[in-house]
Amino acid sequence: MNQPTFRAPKGTFDLVPPRGEAVLAVRDAMAGPVRRAGYGYVETPSFEETGLFARGVGESTDIVTKEMYSFTTRGGDDVSLRPEGTAPVLRAALENGLHRGALPVKLWYGGSYYRYERPQKGRFRHFSQVGAEVLGTEDPAVDAELIVLAMDAYRALGLTEVRVLINSLGSSESRPAYRDALQQFLRGLDLDEDTASRVEINPLRVLDDKRPDVQKALADAPLVTDFLSDGDRAHHDRVRRLLTDAGVPYDDDPRLVRGLDYYTRTLFEFVHDGLGSQSAVGGGGRYDGLSELLGGPRLPSVGWALGAERTLLAMEAEGLPLPGTPGVDVYLVPLGDDAERHAFGLVTELRRAGVAADVATGGRGLKGAMKAADRSGARYAVVVGERDLADGVAQVKDLRSGEQEPVALGDVRSHLITATSS
Ligand code: HAM
Repeated sequence: MNQPTFRAPKGTFDLVPPRGEAVLAVRDAMAGPVRRAGYGYVETPSFEETGLFARGVGESTDIVTKEMYSFTTRGGDDVSLRPEGTAPVLRAALENGLHRGALPVKLWYGGSYYRYERPQKGRFRHFSQVGAEVLGTEDPAVDAELIVLAMDAYRALGLTEVRVLINSLGSSESRPAYRDALQQFLRGLDLDEDTASRVEINPLRVLDDKRPDVQKALADAPLVTDFLSDGDRAHHDRVRRLLTDAGVPYDDDPRLVRGLDYYTRTLFEFVHDGLGSQSAVGGGGRYDGLSELLGGPRLPSVGWALGAERTLLAMEAEGLPLPGTPGVDVYLVPLGDDAERHAFGLVTELRRAGVAADVATGGRGLKGAMKAADRSGARYAVVVGERDLADGVAQVKDLRSGEQEPVALGDVRSHLITATSS
């Protein structure tokens, strides 16, 4: 057999049915709760000026130093495929003046994101997220709202084992003292050169080092929650209280840090233990200083992004059936030229009436066409043979019960509309 010449690039994959429909259904379910909560849809380009991410996500983060697909356009502009959605969405909100209207601005978005990471289970170079951002309020109620909406999305998909880890990184009031204490602690450790230089540039990033020997050395590192100002502590306690009131359990994780530099105060991650090392199915937090970093006014904000592929893997780990199975409700089986013409008209009418319907093509015989009807997932097969046409009927077969009845051709459409809507 001939091997095709081209394959999907390393770290990427194609979505083909039924997985294609499953990911669509996952994205729909993840967007459902925020849409019902009145969030408005925003769409931004798949690429942005590289500087937006360097400034927004952070010059020293792995994402910016190692993982961006960056290139210079023919016109000489430095652009990058978006590795994440928060900086672009905030850029778009500022550019379009959304922050000059009533605050907060609540937005949701989704699409493809690109990171040049080492591929492994659950970690890809092209993946999809659904995200939500609330711009322009410090109110801890929106931090809690976002966490509740994400947990509702996971629950709507049938997931029962997603846990939320929560932490506060403090604001500019709390950060400097913690940074000093952490740096002092880290300088006392025997670290490799790269890590030691990270201690000077961005010590919080060291806490995210996954190597077991580093994690062990960090066991006695000072905790950010011991350095929170009164205001930051009150904010954090309020978020936790509201989660409890909403019946959403959470795990305090004072060691939680995330790979993006814009976070302040509330930080959270949704994790699933059935996924191996890439256990985060979603994550987010507050980013009160990002707008000013991008040249905008003060605009305290909070948001999250949920990963569609990892969420689907989590569903498989819990043994849940693939959502959004493709298929139709009605499958037409015309036998002969006149029947094919008739069936073409009927399938068009059914589809226009909102019935999911398909038709056998290519002059297939009864046996092959009935097999196709079974594969299509249809509840009803409609067989139209030459004799039926002459008698002015079609045979409507209920594929579940096996019962078959002749229905007058003029009534088939309404018969099927009624049958499939019950
Ligand atoms: P993030 O934690 O980098 O946050 O990504 C969010 C989710 O996207 C992850 O939890 C994971 O499910 C998925 N994801 C990330 N990288 C990959 C990958 N290489 N392969 C597969 N899935 C992946 C953000 O992107 C922030 N913008 C979230 C946010 C919104 N913070 C505030 N607002």
